[in-house]
Amino acid sequence: MRADSTLRQLGWVLVPLVMSPLLGASAADLRLTEAQLAKYDGTGADGLIYLAIEGKVFDVSAAPKFYGPGGAYHHFTGKDATRAWITECWEDADQLTWRLEGVEDVFAPVYLDEELEKVHTGQTANLHGTFKDVPDAMLKAMAAKAVERFGDISPVEKARRRKQDREAAQKKIREKIDHWTNFFESNDKYKVVGEVVHDKKKPAPPPICEAAQAKKPIEGGKVDDLAKDSGGIAYDKRPENPAVNNLRENIIAKDKERLKNAQHEEL
Ligand code: HEM
Repeated sequence: MRADSTLRQLGWVLVPLVMSPLLGASAADLRLTEAQLAKYDGTGADGLIYLAIEGKVFDVSAAPKFYGPGGAYHHFTGKDATRAWITECWEDADQLTWRLEGVEDVFAPVYLDEELEKVHTGQTANLHGTFKDVPDAMLKAMAAKAVERFGDISPVEKARRRKQDREAAQKKIREKIDHWTNFFESNDKYKVVGEVVHDKKKPAPPPICEAAQAKKPIEGGKVDDLAKDSGGIAYDKRPENPAVNNLRENIIAKDKERLKNAQHEEL
């Protein structure tokens, strides 16, 4: 009898002692390393699927159709791929990271006048895809004409553009991250389970993917000024000019793509 009640008393002491670390740490307090998080991609025996955005880990196991193996968004699971949530570059594993170096590039516009200036001065290595289908001689002639008309783009003007565009891009990056964080936080199917401790030694990712480069917004810069002055030399008028037509078609296609993405983001 005595032994029994002693055991029972001991039980009252032992059970909370053993259980407290488990009870005390609610699921929302989980702190995972990147390697631990990697296990939660829906392929484990537990079937758990986690994804992280800006360090915050969400349990998305309720939607295996989207996030489980074979799902359209499986690539986001088991990791913090904040970068790819912004850039939409998820073909390449290097891009599936929380590191954001160079992400501004997604939103920083390409300036047609600077591109034409590059063509004119022979720096054609990284020309924007808009010019891809324009025959070389025609592009050179167009660039020479344009640069002759709009003159130099001063370093001060270029620096002003870079600064303004970087600031606007940083705002857009913030909005995108908040958009997706809110999406997962406000969805009843999902819950926050904790955080992932980023491995700061991870190497910096490569620049944004080509698909993101191709979706960059296009600004006319001084080409727009010329267009205004002349009633439209650039992409609206001159339908008889195939080079300009190409430019226009590309711009329209990009706008359609952007519209589609914007609509999708309202999901
Ligand atoms: C052309 C491109 C895309 C198409 C056609 C597409 C299509 C879809 C469709 C059909 C759904 C399901 C809607 C529903 O039944 O509730 C969906 C959901 C979703 N999409 Fe996309 N999508 C595209 C691009 C993207 C991109 C770029 C991202 C992220 C960067 C994204 C993230 C998501 C997320 C998070 C969901 C919600 C899944 C959930 O309910 O948890 N999609 N998409």
